[in-house]
Amino acid sequence: MSTSPRPFVAVLFDLDGVIVDTARLHYAAWKRLADGLGLHFDEQRNQHLKGVDRLGSLDLLLGPEASHIGPAERQRLADQKNRWYMEALNAIGSGDLLPGAHDALDEVRRAGLRTGLVSASRNAKSVLDRLRVADRFDVIVDPSGVAQGKPAPDIFLTAARELGATPTGCLGIEDAAAGVAGLKAASMAALGVGTPLELHQADWVIPDLTYFRLDAYGSAT
Ligand code: BG6
Ligand code: MG
Repeated sequence: MSTSPRPFVAVLFDLDGVIVDTARLHYAAWKRLADGLGLHFDEQRNQHLKGVDRLGSLDLLLGPEASHIGPAERQRLADQKNRWYMEALNAIGSGDLLPGAHDALDEVRRAGLRTGLVSASRNAKSVLDRLRVADRFDVIVDPSGVAQGKPAPDIFLTAARELGATPTGCLGIEDAAAGVAGLKAASMAALGVGTPLELHQADWVIPDLTYFRLDAYGSAT
């Protein structure tokens, strides 16, 4: 991808795995569900669930079993996982913001850019409230009201529209391959948080937000 020095007007932050380490809480709840169903599930398989919405994640966990399960039971299982996940959320607070998150938000604000929080999680708002950072985002977009979740571009395009930004004026920050794919489908620049191997579609990859340097990223052309 070629880049230009044209500045971004907005930065879209993912939640789980970018500004807070809730990925381990999601994993623990899915693992408990899988164990109860006698299904094999481990950290490696969990990688494929990152960034994928609740029912989509359940289908990935169930694998071929999904075709034997009706809609009501599917919903019941997803609800059960969510109850366990919400119980675990009770333990998180402002100290659980990942290293670099506060500074990255400050840097974006100081540069005069708008901020969006774009998450596949329907619990996003309550997690932000617990972290006490909800007021640091101009818009918060979750999957409710969006036709298709990540890796579709819809949720990112909704955030850009609400921020009054064009897609190429947005820099998205994502830790999941599904999220990076969604950003690229939306014609946005993608900063991956993780490893280049896993996030090969990203324009830049950093290990975590302590490496965030807004000046280092040019907008997509
Ligand atoms: C994403 C997580 O942010 O949200 C996924 O990466 C999770 O692991 C998804 O399944 C949906 O979250 P929730 O809170 O709506 O079940
Ligand atoms: Mg994520």
